Amino acid sequence: MNRTRIVAGNWKMNKSYEEGRDLAKAIAENLQPSETVVVLAPPFIHLRGVAAIAEGVSNLHVAAQNCHQENSGAYTGEISAPMVRSTGAEYVILGHSERRQYFGEDGPLLADKVKAALAAGLKPIFCCGEPLEIREAGAHVALVVEQLEASVFDLSPEDFAKVVIAYEPVWAIGTGRTASPEQAQDMHKEIRDAIAKKYGRDLAQQTSILYGGSCKASNAPELFSQPDVDGGLIGGASLDTKEFMAIIGSFPA
Ligand code: 13P
Repeated sequence: MNRTRIVAGNWKMNKSYEEGRDLAKAIAENLQPSETVVVLAPPFIHLRGVAAIAEGVSNLHVAAQNCHQENSGAYTGEISAPMVRSTGAEYVILGHSERRQYFGEDGPLLADKVKAALAAGLKPIFCCGEPLEIREAGAHVALVVEQLEASVFDLSPEDFAKVVIAYEPVWAIGTGRTASPEQAQDMHKEIRDAIAKKYGRDLAQQTSILYGGSCKASNAPELFSQPDVDGGLIGGASLDTKEFMAIIGSFPA
């Protein structure tokens, strides 16, 4: 199996510019060369500074947490995909549940953002995941497949091959209540099966699917040992160097 293992740290709206640079430097200094791809997703204004720190480290990469769907124009306060790319960032998180919930981002808008990101040479880390009431109603698989269909399943196979999927159950984000390894594995397998149905087995086998939601050093080894879990999208625990480094080291040998 030749899937890329990825650990991405989503800093959300945390850290001053100085604090962000210090965190990125500490991670860069401690990171051992390995096949694991490590991605830091700081706030927009930190991107260039963090990208400069990551430049000398072969397996350290940078992501934005969002981008606008247009390349330029009169959109006060917004940041476009080409602007993100120009900082040296290579990835962009799109479809995070906090963007969906607090900023009203829906499937069609996210489809446009994904296309804009790919056109700018960015690799989307596309997030999907269900709220608690949907899981309790047993409709979680259907909803997640719907989210994929709405925003990434109309891409060409060439473009889809550049997308990383992150499954983040909303009830596990920032709650300390993580999905069990079995719940994560079950959903990741459903996602991979849906990709296989759309794009074929080979592409599905190559797609990295990350788990996110209260993932930390203590539960990462069990989550990362699941056959369809290819790494994590880490929120709170990515703000602490020791904790984040331990998560990076949590893959089975
Ligand atoms: P927490 O790890 O803080 O639960 O956040 C997960 C997340 O939303 C990452 O994008």
